[in-house]
Amino acid sequence: MLHRLDLATIWVVAAAIPARAIISDTWLPEYAETLYDFVVVGGDLLAPANAGAVVANRLSENPEWHVLLIEAGPTHVGVFDTRVPGLLAKLQGSRYDWNYTTVPQTGFNNRSIKFPRGHILGGCSSIDGLFYTRGSSSDYDRWAEVTGDSGWSWKNILPYFLKNEKWTNPADGHDPDGEYDPTYHSTKGVTYVSSYNSPQVIDSKVIAASRELGGEFAYNTDINDGEELGIGWSHSTIGHGERSSAATSYLTPEVLARHNLHVLTDHQVTHVLRTSSRGGMPSYRTIRFTPRKTPDPYIEINVKKEIILSAGVVGTTQILLQSGIGNATELSELGIKPVVDLPSVGKNMSEQAIFFSMYNLGIPGTIEAVTPEMQTEWLNEWNTTKTGPLTSIGVNLIGWLRIPDSSSVWEEYQDPSSGKNTPHIEIGFDGGSFQTTPRSTIANAIIPLQPESRGSITLRSSDPFDHPNIDFGFFNSKLDLITIREGVRQIHRLYSAPAFAEYNLSLPESFPSLDDDNALEEYIRNNADHAAHPVGTAAMSPRDADWGAVDPDLLLKTVSGLRIVDASVMPFIPAGHTQAPVYAIAERAADIIKEVWEWYG
Ligand SMILES: *[C@@H]1O[C@H](CO)[C@@H](O)[C@H](O)[C@H]1NC(C)=O
Ligand SMILES: *[C@@H]1O[C@H](CO)[C@@H](O)[C@H](O)[C@H]1NC(C)=O
Ligand SMILES: *[C@@H]1O[C@H](CO)[C@@H](O)[C@H](O)[C@H]1NC(C)=O
Ligand SMILES: *[C@@H]1O[C@H](CO)[C@@H](O)[C@H](O)[C@H]1NC(C)=O
Ligand SMILES: *[C@@H]1O[C@H](CO)[C@@H](O)[C@H](O)[C@H]1NC(C)=O
Ligand SMILES: *[C@@H]1O[C@H](CO)[C@@H](O)[C@H](O)[C@H]1NC(C)=O
Repeated sequence: MLHRLDLATIWVVAAAIPARAIISDTWLPEYAETLYDFVVVGGDLLAPANAGAVVANRLSENPEWHVLLIEAGPTHVGVFDTRVPGLLAKLQGSRYDWNYTTVPQTGFNNRSIKFPRGHILGGCSSIDGLFYTRGSSSDYDRWAEVTGDSGWSWKNILPYFLKNEKWTNPADGHDPDGEYDPTYHSTKGVTYVSSYNSPQVIDSKVIAASRELGGEFAYNTDINDGEELGIGWSHSTIGHGERSSAATSYLTPEVLARHNLHVLTDHQVTHVLRTSSRGGMPSYRTIRFTPRKTPDPYIEINVKKEIILSAGVVGTTQILLQSGIGNATELSELGIKPVVDLPSVGKNMSEQAIFFSMYNLGIPGTIEAVTPEMQTEWLNEWNTTKTGPLTSIGVNLIGWLRIPDSSSVWEEYQDPSSGKNTPHIEIGFDGGSFQTTPRSTIANAIIPLQPESRGSITLRSSDPFDHPNIDFGFFNSKLDLITIREGVRQIHRLYSAPAFAEYNLSLPESFPSLDDDNALEEYIRNNADHAAHPVGTAAMSPRDADWGAVDPDLLLKTVSGLRIVDASVMPFIPAGHTQAPVYAIAERAADIIKEVWEWYG
């Protein structure tokens, strides 16, 4: 059954229709009566899908424009666990998670891994690790060079980072002076960002070691000023002890009160459809969506100006391919009629792997694990004052390192990084304890930041509710594996600093010898995971390029009316986590869209 909405045709009439339904579980008549200028798909960011909320907010600043934001998952309002940074693990595998699983990863000895994605308003920014890292200036200069659009350069994108950011003091009340450079931060933006909110026992040791060893481990006052290298304090999207997501920051009650913005939750967009031809190009201004996880019934609506896909790397790719936009041969094989031959869609996916090396402190008087009593005490503290261990996800310091130019690795491989100021390796230090009593272990997260391997997202079938094949292609280039191996050794060097002398640091007995390349690599293959930052499945490229899916203004090539605003468009992953870059992309995209349509009037 197909329901085409010509303004007045209504599919469902809710039993009780609130006078003003803003966030709704049901497609309401007031929605059906509106002819929208813009429909934004996915309140869902990327690899965090936060972009949709940003774009919907910015476009509805113009009271003349009617904007509809559609999210497949439920609202974030009232979901307690999304508010408490330290409870993020409870959200994974819950109803707020799409619950994806990858195909067997050859480079991981054929292991399939779970891949959580936010299924909730705010997308991944409602369930992610809250890291606020921008990457290196060269990352953006490379985007500018690859796309031929200087608007993506570091100098030109920085104002958009600042437009998004609302820097605030940490929850524990400490003075963050010296942990960031105010020149590169804004207190006037939208999403809260803060330095660490709850100190850890190991923090002072890592800082001391950084000062003792210097060089590659030198202290870096601000890891977000475009020059990341060294060790510095992590910044997070946390304000006053609470998670600041795209939903809490861009879809506030004041924003939702705008008469021209409608937010529809619990409805999944399955297709974009060709509406007509305008100016010689096929026009894509019809979307199809449904409140059920079944193909029947559908609702279709037309938009006046644009459809903006912000459904994240998985969602956006899936909608495009299901709509016949992709590699024509592959789509035909699945029984999907190819309509726009853009073979790059879903291809060229780039994702960082992650591997944890765990050190034992080896001293008496440590605690083994967080006990239920501690959990209750921490939750009570958070409930009472929004302070304490649950205001943190456990990583306060990050190291950003390069494989030295002198390494023999470069005899065989080319440097995949965007520039000499760009790290190859990220190391997160998780001491597991916020108490004065240290925990018995330190976990080190090691991420190869600029992977050379590429993967893909392809469809399993023509059923839009079938999860797609997600293949990160981990270690297809062995350089990424070698990069982790080198990171394991770099941490070992750091722990040789005098600052750690009072500990008796050692790797577990099951850990292979650090001198044995093969054993170390095999161990990494058997234990690595994903870092939750995939990008590139609808990459931007120059207008005349024979690869890529969108032009540098993020419009889908060869058609009109369809723009993509999420991590899919990044041609390369920035050297860091993807949340902050997606906010900057979304802020710039909103300006690009405004400029075009304000000009048309
Ligand atoms: C994810 O899996 C959990 C556990 O099986 C389930 O409760 C939840 O509904 C799933 N999420 C979605 C969006 O279906
Ligand atoms: C992984 O799977 C492939 C294809 O089934 C097989 O050829 C290969 O031997 C497997 N590798 C391992 C380590 O099991
Ligand atoms: C499209 O897919 C087919 C089958 O996988 C492949 O042989 C072909 O090279 C692809 N076309 C392009 C342009 O990538
Ligand atoms: C993959 O992306 C790179 C740039 O990141 C580009 O040079 C290459 O042509 C792309 N390949 C495909 C199949 O899109
Ligand atoms: C360090 O470990 C060694 C061997 O396990 C042990 O003899 C020594 O007492 C430990 N040192 C401290 C400070 O605990
Ligand atoms: C904290 O508040 C939440 C939400 O109101 C409640 O479910 C939980 O029981 C409280 N926990 C403690 C320890 O106060």
